[in-house]
Parts: sequence; structure tokens; C-alpha cells
Amino acid sequence: MRGPIGLFFGTRPQVIKASILRQSLSKVGQVLSVDTGQHYDYQLHQVHYDQLGVEPPDDFLGVGSGSHAQQTAAILTATAEWIRGHKPSLAVVIGDTNSTLACALAATQLRVPVAHVEAGLRATDRLMAEDVNRRIVDAIADVLFAPSEASAATLRREHPRATTEFVGDVAYDVLIRALPRAPATDSLAAYTADCAQGFVYVTLHRAELVDDAVLLQRVLEALDSLDRPCIFPVHPRTRKQIESLDLTLGARLHLTTPVGYLESVALTKAASAVVTDSGGLQREAYWLGVPCVTVRGETEWHETITLGANVLVNPRDVSTLGPTINEAVRRRRAGASWDRKTYGAGDAAARIATVLASFPMKP
Ligand code: UD1
Repeated sequence: MRGPIGLFFGTRPQVIKASILRQSLSKVGQVLSVDTGQHYDYQLHQVHYDQLGVEPPDDFLGVGSGSHAQQTAAILTATAEWIRGHKPSLAVVIGDTNSTLACALAATQLRVPVAHVEAGLRATDRLMAEDVNRRIVDAIADVLFAPSEASAATLRREHPRATTEFVGDVAYDVLIRALPRAPATDSLAAYTADCAQGFVYVTLHRAELVDDAVLLQRVLEALDSLDRPCIFPVHPRTRKQIESLDLTLGARLHLTTPVGYLESVALTKAASAVVTDSGGLQREAYWLGVPCVTVRGETEWHETITLGANVLVNPRDVSTLGPTINEAVRRRRAGASWDRKTYGAGDAAARIATVLASFPMKP
């Protein structure tokens, strides 16, 4: 008899995507879900299980935080042990985190075929941790599920021997299903108390920005000097750095603890503009029709830029941040809109299951 499908994840965005993948994959065979424990704080992690009605994982590896090397090594060791014990017929990994890399590597070394969801994205900064992770995973995976036509084309060029399918983005599947359950704007008062004239929804967590104290400080000061409030749920990585800075911020930059997925969707929908370095939020703003300003030198989600939903501001060029946000707010007021179907039709998880149903898994 064939072994189960192992579904591996460990960070906030992966829990969200695993919620829908688990449902679809269970139509293909028995699914065992494995949470590596890369993220573990309630507000960063467990809240998504609770809100999205995700069953607890079948196994929790509890690796926690550490340096890149320590974390990746711990996940690799624990996952290899799990695979030896459970003998899965396929390993499904998502995205580009240390959990993605280590789980894919453990499976490949033990001759378990790997399916990579959200494959084929590329940054030009090849040294960025996430780009290294996704390039390696794409190189060793057997089935590559691309969220866009462009990422599928990249994969067919780079890895002609793998099976590549453009299926769309599972994050869109999740968003469509969650929207009816997102809190109404008037129940967001805890965040939006003095935001009658609108607010900017901010998230910043990427190591390249927040680990650089000078860059982070300049960006926060630019946000603080906007003529409207910002609501900024702070990731633990960012929180640590802010606490180490000697910052005097005004009252308009509202720092809060991380919010759940449903609150984040509601805040995005209600915002005058979104400012972020998160790939997930860039697409959520795009799907919800809210102009986004991405505080990075580049984005893997190129289509959001070419369609006019997203604008890049390099944090090293922070003087343009305020004017670019003001322009995004103006465009929102003027009813800006764009084609929202670039990342599929909201049926990516079902399409992934259809492809895997006829994929030769390990007996
Ligand atoms: C990771 C991913 C990033 C993804 C992000 C989503 C990698 C290389 N990066 O970044 O691609 O966008 O998750 O949020 O895998 N911490 C806590 N509590 C937690 C988890 C982390 O306090 O539950 C703190 C720890 O101090 C830790 C730091 O946050 O050292 C960074 O966590 P880590 O998992 O290394 O990376 P993220 O920045 O979350």
C-alpha cells in the first residue's frame, strides 16, 4: 500500500496556504500534515489555525528560532526522522522559507518525490535567503506548481525535465473563501480609533530591511510624518529591532501586536493604501483592489507592478516613500482598478490535487 502524502509547513503564510491544500489533497489520498514549528507565537501562528478552522497538524516538530544555519539544520534533521518513520509517498512543500528548503531536501535525500507549491518565482537579488531557498527547491522538486504564467515559463526553461503546471495561487483560494468571514470595518475600532479620515495599513518584516537599523529607522520616520495614521502590526523580528532603536515616534504610527489573517484581510480592504515588504500582502492588496507600495528594491510578483496595482520604493531612497504613498491614496480615492486574474481563478488547490492524482508517487 502507498504511504501518506506529507504536507510540510512552518511559518505564518504557510499555515494559511496549508489550510486549503490539506482539504484538496485529502481527495488524492491520506494526508499527514507536519508543522515544523519555525513560527510558534500564538499571534504569529496558532491564531491562523483557529481562524481558518485548520485542524491541528498531525505532527509538530517544534524546531523554533535560531540562526539560518541552526534553523535549517534542525528542520532537516527532524523532517528526515519523520520521513523515515512515516514513509510518505510524496512530500508537498510551500513557498520559500527555511522550512520549505529543509523539508524538500530531507525528502529528496530519502528518495521521496517532492511537489513544490508557489514555484518559479525569482528575485534578482540571488543572495536573499528566500531566493536561495526557492531556487534550490525548484531544482530538486519533481512537480512544480506555478502561481502565474511567467513563473511557469521560468520553470520550463530552467527545469525542462520536471513536471510544471500553472495552477494559480493558493493564497487566492484562501482569500476568496475567507472574505465573507472577515470582520466588518466598524468592528475594527480597536485598530482604527482615530482613523476616520482613512489609514495606511503597514507591515514590514523582511530581514534585508528590518535587520538594518538605519534603514528601518528612516522608513519608520517617513511613515510617522505622513498626514494620516498608519496601522502597523509588528512582526517579532521587527519588534526586537524597534526596541533596540532610540526612536521617538509620533502618535500617528499605531504599532500593534501581529493580527490574525481575517483581521489583516479586513484592514487591507478598509485601508486607503497598503505599505509592505510581504509577498502575501502585495497580492492580497492586488486582489482586493487596494493600491500597494512595496518597500523593497524589487518584487517577485512582477505582474502587480505592470498591472498598476503596486509600486516599488527602495528603502535606500526613502525620500520618495511619503509622496508615493500619498499618490497611492489618491489613486484609491479616484477608483483605480486593474485586472485581478493574473494569479489564477481561486481553484489552485483543486488543480494541484487533480495533477497529483495521476502523478507516480513512491509506492
Ligand atoms: C520567515 C521567512 C520569510 C517569511 C516569514 C513570514 C525564512 C528565511 N524567512 O521570516 O520568508 O516571509 O517567515 O512571517 O524562512 N520569532 C518569534 N516568534 C515566532 C517566530 C519568530 O518571536 O513565532 C522571532 C525570533 O526572534 C526569530 C525571528 O522572529 O529569530 C525571525 O523568525 P524566522 O522564522 O527566522 O524568520 P521570519 O523573519 O519570520
